[in-house]
Amino acid sequence: MKHFILTVLTFMNLSAMAQAPQLTKDNIDEVLNAMTLEEKATLLVGGEYDFWAPVAVAGGSSKTVPGAAGSTVAIPRLGIPETILTDGPAGVRINATREGTSKTYYATGFPVGSCIASTWNVNLANRIGKAIGNETKEYNCDVILGPGMNIHRNPLCGRNFEYYSEDPLLTGKIAAAYINGCQSEGAGVSIKHFAVNSQETNRQYVDERLSQRAAREIYLRGFEIAVRESDPWTVMSSYNLINGTFAQANHDLLTSILRNDWGFRGIVMTDWCAKREQAGLFTADEIRAGNDLMEPGGKDQIADIISDVKSGKLAMADVDICVRRMLEYIVRTPHFNNHKPSNAPDLKAHAAVTRETACEGMVLLKNNGTLPINTTEKTINKIALFGTGSYNFLSGGVGSGCVHTPYIVDLVEGLKNAGIETTADLTEIYKRYIDYAKLKFEADRPLSRWFEAPNMGDQKMQEIEISDVCLMNQVKNSDAAIITISRQAGEGIDRKIEGEFNLTDLERQMIQRISSVYHAMEKPVIVVINSGSVIETTSWSAYPDAILMAWQPGEEGGNSVVDILTGKVCPSGRLTMTWPLAATDHPSTKNFPQDIDLFTYEAIKTGGRAMPTRDYTNHEEGIWVGYRYFDTQHKQVAYPFGYGLSYTTFAFGKPQVKRSGDIITLTVQIKNTGRVAGKEVAQVYVAAPKGNIEKPAKELKAFGKTRLLKPGETETLSMTMNVRDLASFDEANSRWLADAGTYSFLVGKNIADIQGEAQLKLPVYTEPVSNVLAQKE
Ligand code: BGC
Repeated sequence: MKHFILTVLTFMNLSAMAQAPQLTKDNIDEVLNAMTLEEKATLLVGGEYDFWAPVAVAGGSSKTVPGAAGSTVAIPRLGIPETILTDGPAGVRINATREGTSKTYYATGFPVGSCIASTWNVNLANRIGKAIGNETKEYNCDVILGPGMNIHRNPLCGRNFEYYSEDPLLTGKIAAAYINGCQSEGAGVSIKHFAVNSQETNRQYVDERLSQRAAREIYLRGFEIAVRESDPWTVMSSYNLINGTFAQANHDLLTSILRNDWGFRGIVMTDWCAKREQAGLFTADEIRAGNDLMEPGGKDQIADIISDVKSGKLAMADVDICVRRMLEYIVRTPHFNNHKPSNAPDLKAHAAVTRETACEGMVLLKNNGTLPINTTEKTINKIALFGTGSYNFLSGGVGSGCVHTPYIVDLVEGLKNAGIETTADLTEIYKRYIDYAKLKFEADRPLSRWFEAPNMGDQKMQEIEISDVCLMNQVKNSDAAIITISRQAGEGIDRKIEGEFNLTDLERQMIQRISSVYHAMEKPVIVVINSGSVIETTSWSAYPDAILMAWQPGEEGGNSVVDILTGKVCPSGRLTMTWPLAATDHPSTKNFPQDIDLFTYEAIKTGGRAMPTRDYTNHEEGIWVGYRYFDTQHKQVAYPFGYGLSYTTFAFGKPQVKRSGDIITLTVQIKNTGRVAGKEVAQVYVAAPKGNIEKPAKELKAFGKTRLLKPGETETLSMTMNVRDLASFDEANSRWLADAGTYSFLVGKNIADIQGEAQLKLPVYTEPVSNVLAQKE
């Protein structure tokens, strides 16, 4: 009897399967029509119902790929596979080990966003994207949750390391290149965090209040470029509110702008959170706004959709729009296309990409001739390495943007690989201290903040004091000193001015003392900054002979730093953000929250959350972000936007500009006039004729980078812009507007070092767009 019932049931199931259409690229409507309401609701909600269980803070929750951040749910009846979403911008963040197997799943740690952008090299960004796309699909995932594209509104944002720049054009171009690379491998991206998520404090509840113009020109423009130039599969809607409405339920943002104005064709997924009904965020509103997928997903959200449709609160037509887009997304994915993951991407080849990219992103801030070391005129065999960061080198930031890398090359190893020794006693002192400090950190874990949870990335270890006697021994026994100043930052918390943006007294004294002792013996001192974002330099930059901004350059960090120090690679990185004299020089600092909660790991485990200290941020500065402010106001800075030194020199020819239809092309000849091979960046800033809208003195509108030019070699760079790129947002008429008149195209090495100018007369350009996202009175 039992056997008979089973057979009948199996038969019934099979016949249901036989009748149900199986998803293909060409039958999306048919599958949509065959779906039950329950199935539709399930598809709009991610598969990780237990995300907020304690394990979540320890890194991800996908059951199929341990450590991956989330998934979409399979509906086998209709041939709809599960798809897997994984962090993050600097590499695939999955657990490196799994229960029951000795096989490892390490992923390549690529340079962080600020380092990638500092290459000003779209080809390299494309290669990184391609390598990450390959690892995504080979590790059985479908979408990488990156790139991070928020604007560096202020140097204190804890996640600036994941983002590219204070400038939207640079952000958009680098992102588009990364996305095109990633998606050429058949894996998708999720551009994030859409939008205006330029602070971490109270990020789930803060209302970002800003003008339509600042939104369109500064905070949305990079996303717009990426959408128009790279067709990202998915967009991640940010936690915050914009002018009073949650981004995740913001029809203006997710439909009027993203889809209607820009033509986005993919899906929008929420950043990882539960629904926030207590704050007025409901699942039905998210769907109506054009948010297709709730991540990481909760059963209550499925129930909401079902009951809201049944009660008539939510129209089935709105649900169907999202479901159709989900099906269109699914047919693009590796899982749907039966990709068989190898779980063995070519980590060696990708390590070479990270080493090369990191070198090209590093920015030489100061050099009195000390660098490169080990040329024919100077030999350095032994170096004293100071600073905990030299030994505990930070390859990336903390939080969801960290990567579980197979190794990290520190400076000791990097120097050794280049045949340079470090002083044994100092190396021993620091190594033992780091071991001790790490053990102590573990012991104090319950007191640590949530992003200091295990699996969330490497922490910075505090500096130690070096005695005078020790210092005297070091200077006697070494040919030079390197001091690493490191900074760690990450998700959920912003940086403080004291001790994070600024140096601590101990760090400043360390630079000062070491410099004076080494200089007394005519030996050089080099400072390496190992940080994902800007720090204060004015108070100490006079002391050392050279300063290299190494960022958080990925797993090959030590090798990349030494490639630059020894001149194996000629530095060609350029700053993508202004380095102010003081953090308070940025006009946004006065409205940037400094009151940080202690959001402990223990607290989140027991369901707590940080109490908001302030639930809004006024963007009083409007569009006057970064160089747009400093350059226009002639305000002194430590290092201007676009700045970076080289070991060679370049001469720029006279730029030529011409227009053909909508396209403006600027060409400029660049000649290597120095003694070593190198690459140069040409930055095209445009100064607009005077019109009704007040504009920055000049704005970046195009850029290009030469190939490696040998001494005496020349390359003509040709850079294009669209006429619409010159437009500003005319709030009164809700349109893009470029006034008629004569435009100056200023080609520079950085914003403060213009080498040549060309002019072009243009007729007026206008483009009306949706009148949305207005500030509430
Ligand atoms: C972060 C996202 C990340 C997601 C999944 C969120 O907390 O803001 O950037 O992709 O978690 O880990």
